Amino acid sequence: MDNIKVNISQNDIDYISNKVKDYLSDRRYIHTLSVADEAQALGTIFIPERINELKVAALLHDVTKNLTDDAQLKYCNDFGIILDDYQICSPDVLHAITGADFAKRNFTGYVNDEIISAIRFHTTGHDRMTIFEAIIYLADYIEKTRKHDSCRMLRQYFYEHIEKASDKLEILYKTMIMSFDFTVRYLADNQKYIDSDTILARNWFIYLLNHSN
Ligand SMILES: [Fe+2]
Repeated sequence: MDNIKVNISQNDIDYISNKVKDYLSDRRYIHTLSVADEAQALGTIFIPERINELKVAALLHDVTKNLTDDAQLKYCNDFGIILDDYQICSPDVLHAITGADFAKRNFTGYVNDEIISAIRFHTTGHDRMTIFEAIIYLADYIEKTRKHDSCRMLRQYFYEHIEKASDKLEILYKTMIMSFDFTVRYLADNQKYIDSDTILARNWFIYLLNHSN
């Protein structure tokens, strides 16, 4: 597998959409479809030539989320995925790790490296993440069925500013930084692990913001 653009047709998207339905609860399937819609909306602004790839990543991003924590750990054991001590204790990170592996094994021909990486890092972000990965991360955070205050605020901030922005990437960078701030604050307030990838992702967008002109 490499990062060469995979040619995804509407038929392919319909196939994946139907297939993931088998793996998800009704509630999570509705969320997944909404992430795909959001990824399309964000993709139209930033990388319109890659919307179908974005939809594939969005449709597959939570494909293993219905597995229990024990089943996630068993999956990692069965397929030789080595976890560090922090990942073992972070269910949100676990489903991203198993989801990326599952998508690679079960949807060969529909995915490339960037789609797999977008799934792998959709909960934490990572250092030097791409615009493609950022769109999947953000689509998952702000899609319309999300009702949490931070999701609403972020969604409102992004769409209020993007219309009139002369530099649309700047708005994306600022929105990403705000999302990481919300996440880090929540994790700190609740004495939960903060994944080092999240800190590096936040730094990366601050770097981009300061070097965007
Ligand atoms: Fe999700």
